[in-house]
Amino acid sequence: MNPKFIKYHRERIDEQDMLKSGEEFFEIMKKRRSIRFFSEEKFDKKLIELAVLIAGSAPSVANKQPWKFVIVESPEVKREIRLAAEKEEKESYENRMPQSWLDDLAPLGTDWRKEFLETAPYLIVVFKVDYLKTDTRLKKHYYVNESAGIATGFLLAALNYMGLSTLTHTPSPMNFLQKILNRPSNEKPYMLIPVGYPAENAVVPDLEKKSPEEIMLTV
Ligand SMILES: Cc1cc2nc3c(=O)[nH]c(=O)nc-3n(C[C@H](O)[C@H](O)[C@H](O)COP(=O)(O)O)c2cc1C
Repeated sequence: MNPKFIKYHRERIDEQDMLKSGEEFFEIMKKRRSIRFFSEEKFDKKLIELAVLIAGSAPSVANKQPWKFVIVESPEVKREIRLAAEKEEKESYENRMPQSWLDDLAPLGTDWRKEFLETAPYLIVVFKVDYLKTDTRLKKHYYVNESAGIATGFLLAALNYMGLSTLTHTPSPMNFLQKILNRPSNEKPYMLIPVGYPAENAVVPDLEKKSPEEIMLTV
């Protein structure tokens, strides 16, 4: 197929204003923490839908957009997800994770219990789409992890920018999500993201981010 081009234009912004909006964005993003204690307080699902649209604007290899976002609000489905996740996580914490992994998790104070999967008003389950099924063949997608990862980053940034809190959760293995949510075989669960307001008594581990010198260099 021949490429078809359309004109691209982006308004220029004064550099001082660019810096100001970047700094404001940083101030908001610095407030993001992984929250494991959620309030049950509900909010308009439109906020989630808007964040998903922002995620869907992410770049992807050959524009394949290999992602699907399932919004879970049903208490019954959330409960089913919690029970299945806790079953896997219990096995992981007690028998599957090597001691070095448990040592790395120790400062976070996490264990197999995942109450937040029921208390958060919404869960967003991100699926990566490995291939496209047409009537006649399967078309493989490339760099699916990278593309889904960027879209998930957009999603987390959008939700937190809007003032909501999130956890990036990866129960392992998480194929139970494919079954519970009845997704086709080309969609693989990638990330489980509870979204809501932090509980009033929520705490987070006292962690530090690396310094600019550690993460950035110019050559
Ligand atoms: C790919 C990925 C998977 C993660 N999986 C889990 C998880 O399964 N459970 C959990 O409690 N936190 C999980 N986290 C959250 C990290 O523990 C957290 O981002 C890290 O400790 C830094 O804390 P912060 O997000 O508050 O800055 C995950 C984060 C990422 C990026």
